[in-house]
Amino acid sequence: MFGFTKAQLRVGFYSKSCPRAESIVSSVIREATQTEPRIPALMLRLHFHDCFVEGCDGSILIDNVADPEREAFGHQGLGGFVEVEKAKQQLEVACPGVVSCADIVALAARDAVVLSKGPFYAVQTGRRDGLVSSKALASEMPDADESIQVLKSKFRAKGLTDKDLVLLSAAHTIGTTACFFITSRLYSFGGRADQSDPAINRNFLFQLKSQCPNNGDVNHRIPLDRTTGQIFDDQILRNIRDGFAVIGSDARLNDDIATKAILNMYVGGRGISKAKASFFAKEFAAAMVKMGQIGVKTGFNGEIRRKCNSFN
Ligand code: HEM
Repeated sequence: MFGFTKAQLRVGFYSKSCPRAESIVSSVIREATQTEPRIPALMLRLHFHDCFVEGCDGSILIDNVADPEREAFGHQGLGGFVEVEKAKQQLEVACPGVVSCADIVALAARDAVVLSKGPFYAVQTGRRDGLVSSKALASEMPDADESIQVLKSKFRAKGLTDKDLVLLSAAHTIGTTACFFITSRLYSFGGRADQSDPAINRNFLFQLKSQCPNNGDVNHRIPLDRTTGQIFDDQILRNIRDGFAVIGSDARLNDDIATKAILNMYVGGRGISKAKASFFAKEFAAAMVKMGQIGVKTGFNGEIRRKCNSFN
């Protein structure tokens, strides 16, 4: 063999070096969910935030350097760090120095989808942990109040298409948001006092305002999917289509010709079809695999951390 082959992610990377890697991660996530039902949503969001800054390299997990990535404004409300660390501890006993924290996060996100009754998909592994974690890099994160143009371009900058933007936003089929993230949408849309986002269904606006009153508790949490907030399904896309999006970035998907056409591809027309739901589930899984490839470090790059919250 001559030449240099770029190391790549692959399914079953740990099948020989740490055969129990995937089952250890899933059992930690499953157990944690029994006592804290928010865990699946937290794990899924954590993977997104890890991948969008510095690539999927566990940089979001670092907490003991000056100004780490995770302290940035855009990462508010993240969780699941304890569960990642717990999985890491067990993995270090089973196969020391082998499984990266970045892979734990990617596996936990898949387990989160499955635990919420979403699709199972094979996770590519072989990521290595990054050596940089900086608060200053978080501006690459999309923000709930950004325009569709900005959202699209932030996804494109990571190699993701408009279709990926729609599919991955559908992760909001589970989980909750703090009122904090929808206050401007409800009370000062577009920077104008007393204006709310016209994309919100009138009755739903009334309901959202009563759940998140002006000058009320901004930490109060409400479901992102008003109907089936703990089940991973395609209902969120129907909500977005019909004016029931909770956060602004979801609503924007219905304002734009291109993303609206993509929405319609999954939930167009009336009624609910099993075939469409499984088409969506399959495509969501493919988009997750693609997101999991953003800026990964493989081969001799990065390191395998001993503890996920600190560089070795
Ligand atoms: C289009 C860009 C996106 C924006 C602007 C966005 C924004 C947000 C915001 C503001 C919240 C509420 C956070 C909180 O209050 O704790 C949230 C929650 C969530 N996001 Fe996103 N998000 C985006 C894309 C994604 C993607 C790609 C995923 C995963 C594939 C994802 C998964 C989640 C999950 C599961 C939650 C619920 C978290 C919980 O219950 O604590 N989001 N998102």
